[in-house]
Amino acid sequence: MNAELASKLDQLKRVARELVAPGKGILAADESTGTIKKRLDSVGVESTEETRRRYREILLTTSGAEEFISGVILFDETLRQSTRDGVPFSQHLKSQGVIPGIKVDAGAKPLAGHPGEKVTEGLDGLRDRLSEYADLGAQFAKWRGVITIDAAKGLPSDYCLTANAHALARYAALCQEAGIVPIVEPEVLMDSDNSIEVCEDVTNRTLNTVFQALFEHGVALEGILLKPNMVIAGKQAKRQAGPQEVAEATVRCLNRHVPAAVPGIVFLSGGQSDELATEHLNLMNRMGPHPWELSFSYGRALQAPALKTWAGDEGKAEAAQRAFYHRARCNGAARHGEWSA
Ligand code: 13P
Repeated sequence: MNAELASKLDQLKRVARELVAPGKGILAADESTGTIKKRLDSVGVESTEETRRRYREILLTTSGAEEFISGVILFDETLRQSTRDGVPFSQHLKSQGVIPGIKVDAGAKPLAGHPGEKVTEGLDGLRDRLSEYADLGAQFAKWRGVITIDAAKGLPSDYCLTANAHALARYAALCQEAGIVPIVEPEVLMDSDNSIEVCEDVTNRTLNTVFQALFEHGVALEGILLKPNMVIAGKQAKRQAGPQEVAEATVRCLNRHVPAAVPGIVFLSGGQSDELATEHLNLMNRMGPHPWELSFSYGRALQAPALKTWAGDEGKAEAAQRAFYHRARCNGAARHGEWSA
């Protein structure tokens, strides 16, 4: 490890551990402008700068949620926005003891020469952007690589795994240089018709490739968080694996590939229902103790009921906050394996 990184490591470790403090996890509210438009469209709300701000404000000002939410991943636009009272969101979060984070990738784009596969862009100029984000209050960051399963076409290719792992590792090294904790997110998508066994195989290959790249880039594992998919059957699969099977396959896969130096694993929900995402996390924590904290960094599984309840109606804002609080509390309980439906 180089001397510069060694001097920053204590801070990186401290923030990483705070993000996976007992009973707490992360809210992913970092949908890009295109993705949040889809979410708002789904409840009949036009996506404007103000509706995006107001929707995020409802989530971020839910009182009591800070008991279960350690950090929030924001999109660039949101990090620059403020509450109705003019308090920048990053300051508001800090005042609640919640750590502001920022999505820094520029999205998954088609991987040239590999039809059907993607690689995530955003490395150019990242060093300067990270320094600006640190000035704006961000203490951790996220970069998402996307891995598509298509068994008929032999996907994912090894090249796709390597290209995405390389980008994730370069991003992670730059974050640590800037004193920002990188969340390393290699997401094996669950949109296909593959079995849970195929997902386990692809997730094994993906994590193996990612940790090799992190090692080669000199990333300090004590100062990162891993944000993986769970090992689960594709949404279109004829046989859906049960919750216990998902929990066991996921823990087996993580045990094989994630070094104990990594302080925490924060799952994405990836299109699972909110209840199932909670149930899976709960079961995995019941199987502990594990070498790392097993926590959440859910987007849809934390937000879906709140978004549906609000649907642009100011009169429903408080009910939406109650819906968000409920999901946060359920996932907080699942951190201890103490959730019940
Ligand atoms: P989901 O939980 O909706 O998958 O979102 C998490 C996330 O941040 C994906 O990058």
